[in-house]
Amino acid sequence: MADLTSAAPGAEPSLDSLATSGRKVSKASLIDTALAMKDVILPTLAKGPLIRRRGMVTMAERQGMDDKAIRRMQTLRRKYGSGPLVLGIPFRPQALLLSRHDVHMVLAYSPAPFTAATREKQAALGHFEPGNVLASRGIDRGRRRQLNEETLETGCQRHSMGPHFATSVAEEMELVCEEALSKGRLDWDTFFVGWMRMVRRIVLGTAARDDSTLTDLLEGLRYRGNLAFLRPKARHRRRKLLDQLKRYVGDAAPESLAGKMAQHCQDPNQLPHHQLPQYLFAFDPGAMASFRTLALLSVHPAVRQRVAAELAQTTSEGVPQLPLLRAAYLEALRLWPTTPAILRETLEPVDWSDSRLDRGTHLIVFTPFFHRDDETLANAHTFDPDRWVDKVVRAEEGLVPFSYGPVQCPAAQFVPMVASLAMRHLLTRLTLELTEPGRLDPTRLPATLDNFTLSFSAR
Ligand code: HEM
Repeated sequence: MADLTSAAPGAEPSLDSLATSGRKVSKASLIDTALAMKDVILPTLAKGPLIRRRGMVTMAERQGMDDKAIRRMQTLRRKYGSGPLVLGIPFRPQALLLSRHDVHMVLAYSPAPFTAATREKQAALGHFEPGNVLASRGIDRGRRRQLNEETLETGCQRHSMGPHFATSVAEEMELVCEEALSKGRLDWDTFFVGWMRMVRRIVLGTAARDDSTLTDLLEGLRYRGNLAFLRPKARHRRRKLLDQLKRYVGDAAPESLAGKMAQHCQDPNQLPHHQLPQYLFAFDPGAMASFRTLALLSVHPAVRQRVAAELAQTTSEGVPQLPLLRAAYLEALRLWPTTPAILRETLEPVDWSDSRLDRGTHLIVFTPFFHRDDETLANAHTFDPDRWVDKVVRAEEGLVPFSYGPVQCPAAQFVPMVASLAMRHLLTRLTLELTEPGRLDPTRLPATLDNFTLSFSAR
């Protein structure tokens, strides 16, 4: 049995509190298991866990799939109570978490006794970054986490290389603005091509700016990763990707994240080239959230005016704080979380009141449910950026866009910094109006928003 007290980090309540929480583990009936699969799990997998399938995201918005999933989770909680709900799936015990208190505790007590390196995740990430921190356990995980934290300066609002990155952001976003002005329109593809040039410069250095074949190679492997165990590994292509990244680390420009990683790497087993695919691909959600933030600002003129006032006070030099623009970005990530399923696996049996979760149980934190749970969260469906000023997670309330605890995204401050610099440039240079404002009703925002089909008129 897990010693539930010794693992307690800092201010977190002891894990013993799960054993006395009054929340018990329940087992879903076969019918409820089928309904949870149909409404929650299969649509999430169909959209693509590692790379979104565009057609599925468009269909998800049209059919209100996330609204349906959230209602299903609420129905299950009413029926079974708020303890973990074990689904009736043979061979692999899977449990949905239904209480935000459990989410807080499970994330706080990761990676033990709740490991993030679940078998499903290892299979999915194994397609392109088998040695990534997220797929690692034990000592390897600790050393690789340290390297990621040192590179990304986890916890710092302004990265020490921020002023250099700000120049790359401004130059690439300026090209996006010029193209948008010439077309009179800013669409996803225009934005994303420029965003990825910016990402390659930040992650690998200026020499990689136009190396789209590298990111295309990674993209193909991510599609394979979407199917985890179900697709064989493309070993030759994986080797090609990792070899190219190894070369980038070897020749790394000092003012890139790869360069900083090379400087901090103390042990070859930290595998910098296995950490970098995550950096390249995890900027996709950064772009999605930026585009959604621009859409939110377009239909919320009062917040847009406050953001404009904030931007007017900053100079174009350096890295300004931009607390309201960052908060708007985090609110977009709350409304449309880009990691819809945070996964854990129990390394030991864990007690929940007078019930127990077996070792090897796969735990699913379905974030859209906690972020939009109007039975526990005020203003769940409206845009309220002020709730995020000076915060990146609100784990006690189940708001975990970057997860929480020792496995929390190490880029939780870095990404909002880069995104707010990019949005600052676009908002300062362009007047953007959402072309289909009817998609966003400010009194009740939809639970799915397809970023790929958003577009703005640009002047
Ligand atoms: C909007 C953009 C992003 C969001 C919402 C996001 C969110 C997350 C989430 C939810 C996790 C899972 C943590 C868990 O299982 O508890 C994670 C892990 C991670 N993210 Fe991010 N992420 C983003 C962008 C990035 C970027 C750009 C980088 C790197 C430059 C990055 C690096 C990582 C790493 C290395 C991990 C693994 C952490 C570990 O296992 O300790 N993320 N991220």
